[in-house]
Amino acid sequence: MKPLIEVNNLTIDFMLNNGKLRACDNVSFTIYKGEILGIIGESGSGKSTLASGILNLVQNPGKITSGEVYYYTENDEKVNLLELSKDEFSEYRWSEIATVFQAAQNALNPVLKIKEHFIETVHAHDANMTEEQIITRSGEVLQYVRLDKGVLEYYPHQLSGGMKQRVLIALSLILDPKIILLDEPTTALDVITQWYILDLLEQIHDDLGVTLIFLTHDISVISGIIDRIAVMYAGEIVEYGEVGDVFEEPSHPYTKGLLHAIPTLTDDITKRKAIPGSPPNLIQDFKQCKFAPRCALYLSGQCEGEKEKTEQLYLVNDNKCSRCYKYADLIKNAAKEGA
Ligand SMILES: Nc1ncnc2c1ncn2[C@@H]1O[C@H](COP(=O)(O)OP(=O)(O)O)[C@@H](O)[C@H]1O
Ligand code: SF4
Ligand SMILES: [Mg+2]
Repeated sequence: MKPLIEVNNLTIDFMLNNGKLRACDNVSFTIYKGEILGIIGESGSGKSTLASGILNLVQNPGKITSGEVYYYTENDEKVNLLELSKDEFSEYRWSEIATVFQAAQNALNPVLKIKEHFIETVHAHDANMTEEQIITRSGEVLQYVRLDKGVLEYYPHQLSGGMKQRVLIALSLILDPKIILLDEPTTALDVITQWYILDLLEQIHDDLGVTLIFLTHDISVISGIIDRIAVMYAGEIVEYGEVGDVFEEPSHPYTKGLLHAIPTLTDDITKRKAIPGSPPNLIQDFKQCKFAPRCALYLSGQCEGEKEKTEQLYLVNDNKCSRCYKYADLIKNAAKEGA
């Protein structure tokens, strides 16, 4: 698979009155052309900050402290998005990389008709289309999200939450992007609508070959459609790889905990176990592995939780890597528990 975006050692800090909050800590990963990647982690783990870093949209008091985000163009040119000027970047945003922001449904302007949102978006990114062309194209992309083009004449309040989310997905498609970042695209929607939205996104992926990145706290919602998964904890990617392999044999205790916490339709809910403790405050200088206070191996004395050893990702096999240097013990223990 060919790379599309390469994130290298991206670190993003928020400079707050009570200290420096590191929301993204030395994050490195690659997004490949045509894949569906899920970035998953509890609320506050840094997913939205990472998305804003990739798009060079980090706002004050946030700051990209270090790192690079490379975009591979159609001619395989490698462009560092973080070095582009605002004007240069706007050529990429939307026409190459589109986004559906978290809670974006609330951002639709209540006094503008849906068609005006499409016109504004296109004008902000590509002044070459006439209004007539934009309306025609809007009708086409609305079809992808299974909405009638009559919706263009509606105001946002005339649409349900699910319909608004579909309009936003259509809006992200208007300039035919190579990749769409979807931040919590199904949160706040009822379960049936969640599945409907995921189904149509999968269809869009299959029909158009567009690369999709889901950022979500809800592993159960996206597990069926993603090819690869990156697990975030306290601003770090702690495990990353092919989804079947990660689910079958998690190689970081946090991933293992997350998977144990998901209820399924068929199992006994009383067997589900939440991960003990809570995520750390990110305004601190970590002296040990960030997951140590919640980690069974650390709490039982099987790991020292040495910080320096968790400053890299270890290649577990061809399909996945882990930040836990005791991954081999974890896998061995799991095999014993299963035996
Ligand atoms: N604008 C901001 N100002 C201060 N802290 C922020 C801001 N945005 C995010 N954070 C902090 O950065 C961390 C990661 O947040 P976020 O990226 O929103 O996580 P997620 O999307 O995974 O829920 C959190 O500790 C959050 O409080
Ligand atoms: S490095 Fe040690 S403390 Fe950290 S997650 Fe792995 S086993 Fe737990
Ligand atoms: Mg978020």
